[in-house]
Amino acid sequence: MSIKILVLVFSALIISARPELIADHHLSTRISPFPSESSSNSPFIPPLPPFTAQSPAIASTSFTRVPALFVFGDSSVDCGTNNFLGTLARADRLPYGRDFDTHQPTGRFCNGRIPVDFLANRLGLPFVPSYLGQNGTIDKMFQGVNYASAGAGIILSSGSELGQRVSFAMQIEQFVDTFQQMILSIGEKASNRLVSNSVFYISIGVNDYIHFYIRNMSNVQNLYSPWLFNQFLASNMRQELKTLYNVKVRKMVVMGLPPIGCAPYYLWKYKSQNGECAEEVNSMIMESNFVMRYTVDQLNHELPNASIIYCDVFQSAMDILKNHQLYGFDEPTEACCGLGRYKGWLPCISPEMACSDATGHLWWDQFHPTDAVNAILADNIWNGRHVDMCYPTNLETMLHA
Ligand SMILES: *[C@@H]1O[C@H](CO)[C@@H](O)[C@H](O)[C@H]1NC(C)=O
Ligand SMILES: *[C@@H]1O[C@H](CO)[C@@H](O)[C@H](O)[C@H]1NC(C)=O
Ligand SMILES: *[C@@H]1O[C@H](CO)[C@@H](O)[C@H](O)[C@H]1NC(C)=O
Repeated sequence: MSIKILVLVFSALIISARPELIADHHLSTRISPFPSESSSNSPFIPPLPPFTAQSPAIASTSFTRVPALFVFGDSSVDCGTNNFLGTLARADRLPYGRDFDTHQPTGRFCNGRIPVDFLANRLGLPFVPSYLGQNGTIDKMFQGVNYASAGAGIILSSGSELGQRVSFAMQIEQFVDTFQQMILSIGEKASNRLVSNSVFYISIGVNDYIHFYIRNMSNVQNLYSPWLFNQFLASNMRQELKTLYNVKVRKMVVMGLPPIGCAPYYLWKYKSQNGECAEEVNSMIMESNFVMRYTVDQLNHELPNASIIYCDVFQSAMDILKNHQLYGFDEPTEACCGLGRYKGWLPCISPEMACSDATGHLWWDQFHPTDAVNAILADNIWNGRHVDMCYPTNLETMLHA
């Protein structure tokens, strides 16, 4: 039986078997997980000068200029959203950010830059600011906004034990709000043009495993096999990508899930002897990636003019892990910052818990890679410099088309 048929059959099963979970998801687009949002309170939007396409200088002019970068996701790309939320998942204290441009914590779950910072550079754009860090005016948003929130998942309740977070559906809703503000400010035609030429970067789903499925929340393991669960995630992703498409988004980068079975937390939890990865975790992630890649492929055929690429972080990360010495890493398993075996037992919460030099480490903390790894991942997304991990093309090629 072909994959396509399998997927169809399982999708049908999901829809008929679990209406309540799906209904739950729809609710998530309406209920805000936190009391107020800066930008939607004020009905008054100050007039702005008309948007012009040639503000920042850009090194390469060989592709259509990308006016903005919009980011959705979890802690892999959060750049400060959670600083405004009541949650344990915050990276607003040192040693987070110690190797960043400002050497200050920003909310990024890294010692330095996250992949979207490197990609913004490639696109000739400034670092994209977080949505909740905005003060209600829209002028800063024309070069992009980052809606990502650490702990968030595709499922509304994923990550709930950590506290507040902005779920994927809510992030999309926040973008739709931004889009409406743009229309009020620069008109519909200019807004459509801006959005359809911009890059939308989506990196979410791993918390649906870390904080939901693997923890057997809501008895999920009894109700869903891993295969059915990843079908459920993919059908949600599909729906959200279509929502973006309907507001004129055309260029999307969908990131696959990383091999968290190799992250220090799971090495500690599964009592890894010599740094071998938790296969049970990784096999679920691989299966999920397989389905997500297929979903993206389907959407590319279904949606006219859409250019969606799927980037397999798993593949690229495993290459770095396997060939870490060639890449210049001498510590492939132990985090730079944390406590316990592999520094995977306790989260990184103080500068004393951190190694002095993170450059040889693959892992910064329990779950997140170092700046050096993020740079390699971004290079691979951009042009497949080390590993071709994006399908059907890398980002640079997609923008040339
Ligand atoms: C909002 O922030 C921008 C710069 O970040 C600043 O120029 C502007 O005055 C601020 N507006 C308000 C109302 O605080
Ligand atoms: C998941 O949790 C339910 C109760 O919440 C329990 O009955 C079931 O055995 C658990 N499944 C697994 C695989 O641990
Ligand atoms: C696709 O692109 C063509 C050429 O730019 C345009 O005429 C057409 O309206 C677009 N279709 C959709 C659905 O965006």
